[in-house]
Amino acid sequence: MKKPAFLTVDDAMCLTEKENAKLFCDHLNPAQYRFLKLLGFHEVLIDHAEGMYYYDRSGNKIMDLFGGFGAIALGHNHPRLLAVRKRFEEEKRHEMAMAFISQYASALARNLSLVAPEGLDMVFLGSTGSEVVEAALKLAEKVQGRARSTTIYAESSFHGKSRGALSVTDSAFYQSSFQLLHNNLRVPFGDAQALETLFKSNPEIGILILETVQGGAGIIPAPAEYWQAVRQLCTKYKVIWIADEVQCGMGRTGKFFAFEHTGVAPDIIVTAKALGGGKSAIGAMIARKDLYMTAYGTSDTAMIHGPSTFSGMGEVCCTAIETLHVMYDEGLIDNSAAMGALMLDELKKIQAKHPSLVKEVRGQGLMIGIEFHDFSNTVPGLLKGIVSSFDERLKGSLCGFIGSILLRDYQILVAFTEYNRNVIRIEPPLIITREEVLRFTSVLDEILSHGVSRMVMNYAKNFLKVI
Ligand SMILES: Cc1ncc(COP(=O)(O)O)c(C=O)c1O
Repeated sequence: MKKPAFLTVDDAMCLTEKENAKLFCDHLNPAQYRFLKLLGFHEVLIDHAEGMYYYDRSGNKIMDLFGGFGAIALGHNHPRLLAVRKRFEEEKRHEMAMAFISQYASALARNLSLVAPEGLDMVFLGSTGSEVVEAALKLAEKVQGRARSTTIYAESSFHGKSRGALSVTDSAFYQSSFQLLHNNLRVPFGDAQALETLFKSNPEIGILILETVQGGAGIIPAPAEYWQAVRQLCTKYKVIWIADEVQCGMGRTGKFFAFEHTGVAPDIIVTAKALGGGKSAIGAMIARKDLYMTAYGTSDTAMIHGPSTFSGMGEVCCTAIETLHVMYDEGLIDNSAAMGALMLDELKKIQAKHPSLVKEVRGQGLMIGIEFHDFSNTVPGLLKGIVSSFDERLKGSLCGFIGSILLRDYQILVAFTEYNRNVIRIEPPLIITREEVLRFTSVLDEILSHGVSRMVMNYAKNFLKVI
């Protein structure tokens, strides 16, 4: 059989910016390319990445405050992860966890049970956050039975794009016109009273899924008292509480799991992103043993939701095992708490200095949101009335200008949020130093000090160049 004209790995590494753009538009997502072009992100072709930084083909060093939405917790290409992976490959260790019992999956599962609250001993390994959200929803449903399978989720939640996870994701945009599961009810996030009203009125409710800190909503934490009420209500009404820690877990908020700030524990945890150390795709569901055994504890039920093809792949598990070690050995959870507190303090000073631009800064550890005002609030009095009628359409533009200027002029990468487009999301690797935090906050202060009109002009200069 004649081999098609495949590109080689070397070809991929050597693609020019133009060639890469063409392939992206021809085969991946042309409309996304236009969006990246608006931000000026399309001009960057990354060569390699190390620690806090991406390095582009032109030799620029870009500070990563986006961190793959939290996936790059140890920094890019952590040397201990590279070493573990190299050894695994050189020793030709085995990958598949399906035919034989994989020692790597077993060891990782044991380690995860050690970081989880007491009693959460059973682990399902998957490859993405969505996959383990599905595993958690299915486990909870299996335990509760169909009669109590109604699931509560929060306003502005994000749990993934697979169909079950999407059904409890509060986004008309992502849900689009897809057919979804119907036995779900939405509740305001952080409102224990509303939760109790629902629990009381509907005995079919048996499952609750909540992000401990909402990410896509624009970094929204809830107070400890809320979580204590959640625990108490779930116990009282026999509802299974699934904590989605896919983004906020793994040290991101300054504790291993974000719910540890609250003094209470869920029944099932889902985690992913940072678990792979930024090198591999892995997610884990960690569940109370009694729940797991009720659902899948007999020979008839064991394989109902058994491993998928890539569950517990050897090198992936070894990477995750080493990730957990590095996190503790390098004090990254403590660093996340300390650097997060410093960043929030500095951002609050910036908010006080630029109150017409910055509406709120909030977060926990290194999961921080900077919310900007609507555009009309940033313009002089006379223009406010006219501009306010465009506020909805202009949402996200200020963040876009700032993100674009940060990247182009200061080589700093930040992230945006799905739902509240006025929020810039800061989720750097947990290795960030004091100097790097202060560099970012001083640059942000400088950009905001220039005022909106200069910001718009500055952005427009670049925009005109690319159209
Ligand atoms: C809180 C939360 N849950 C679930 C997911 C889905 O994870 P994945 O994209 O790996 O499927 C995400 C992804 O951003 C997330 O932030």
